[in-house]
Amino acid sequence: MDALLSSTTFPLKRTLYSPSSDQPPQFIRTKISTIRPKKSSQCMQKRVFSHNLALRISANAQSAPSAEASTSSSIPSEMKGWSYGEYGGVDVLKFESNVAVPQLKEDQVLIKVVAAALNPVDFKRRLGKFQATDSPLPTVPGYDVAGVVVKVGSQVKDLKEGDEVYGDINEKALDGPRQFGSLAEYTAVEEKLLALKPKNLDFVQAAGLPLAIETAYEGLERAGFSAGKSILVLGGAGGVGSLVIQLAKHVFGASKIAATASTPKLDFIKSLGVDLAIDYTKENFEDLAEKFDVVYDSVGQCDRAVKAVKEGGSVVVLTGAVTPPGFRFVVTSDGEMLKKLNPFLESGKVKPLVDPKGPFPFDKVKEAFSYLETGRATGKVVIYPIP
Ligand SMILES: NC(=O)c1ccc[n+]([C@@H]2O[C@H](COP(=O)([O-])OP(=O)(O)OC[C@H]3O[C@@H](n4cnc5c(N)ncnc54)[C@H](OP(=O)(O)O)[C@@H]3O)[C@@H](O)[C@H]2O)c1
Repeated sequence: MDALLSSTTFPLKRTLYSPSSDQPPQFIRTKISTIRPKKSSQCMQKRVFSHNLALRISANAQSAPSAEASTSSSIPSEMKGWSYGEYGGVDVLKFESNVAVPQLKEDQVLIKVVAAALNPVDFKRRLGKFQATDSPLPTVPGYDVAGVVVKVGSQVKDLKEGDEVYGDINEKALDGPRQFGSLAEYTAVEEKLLALKPKNLDFVQAAGLPLAIETAYEGLERAGFSAGKSILVLGGAGGVGSLVIQLAKHVFGASKIAATASTPKLDFIKSLGVDLAIDYTKENFEDLAEKFDVVYDSVGQCDRAVKAVKEGGSVVVLTGAVTPPGFRFVVTSDGEMLKKLNPFLESGKVKPLVDPKGPFPFDKVKEAFSYLETGRATGKVVIYPIP
């Protein structure tokens, strides 16, 4: 598979970032040093100040005092981070240099963020689609994190300072996601949402996994997927779809995997283990004579997906309208699930897939969002380095 992932037939400019590489690419080691607090006009300074004041007050209001079991004198009280104080397009995102470092609750650890990844939920939330259940503005976005534990709360059982961890920091993706996300130098996270980073993966690779792999796994479990069953994955080249394919094959033991992608990405999904790669620009998957035990829809095509499933089969829906027998769920973050999957990652059977346009450095977060929002990403859009 490594050879296939680096195949010259894959028509993107750079090879996918692969964990099998002996050395991380050069750009991984380049430390960004260009982010500076903005020189603002008077009016701008006032706006930024009040924005940050709100962030600072909220950070402390969200946390329990004196919960730390251990402290590190090198942790600053303020940090660099991206935030938005109103819902809207990418331009509501502001780089701030004095966001309050979140204080810890008893069951949380403070992570020095090394890499973070973007998910569609980040921009849907920023657009205000989940306002009814969102945390109060301003928001530091970011669900996925990989980094190093620098402080632990008094009720933290297993993690300790110096541990390299990764996870999706929001237990419920849409129900009160935290105000202080992973697009900052530090983030505070419940221990139960984290796992130790697989030893063979670097932070960039690990950051791209949590939300997508947990969604992939939870959907397969909820569909009752098991060894010997067939599956059709809609959106096989995306962050979630590329992991559904790999988990179906290597963790669940699928008998046959079909998946849809556009013409340039067919070789890529085949390299992940797809037996039948369907070019959605040329063929309608629902017209195939063959039907599948499970259809996993990461595109929002449930009305068509239900025509491709066998009688009594399951249709997992991640987005869009649901047509019976399709069912939709919202991912729950769970560190135990990551721990369960770590052996598959450490053995190299399941591979993290970092979009070759990235990783995007911290000062290019808006560009990273704009790219993700095209809906054309391959694997995961990762932000690295984070100062
Ligand atoms: N319910 C949940 O808990 C949950 C969890 C995670 C994600 N989601 C949702 O699931 C969706 C997918 O998430 P993601 O992270 O995988 O997104 P993503 O990485 O941005 O997906 C991009 C991929 O989608 C493919 N794609 C776009 N249109 C397609 C089509 N008509 N047929 C086949 N492939 C198509 C693109 O391939 P081409 O360039 O070849 O078109 C691209 O590779 C999003 O709407 C997200 O919000 C929901």
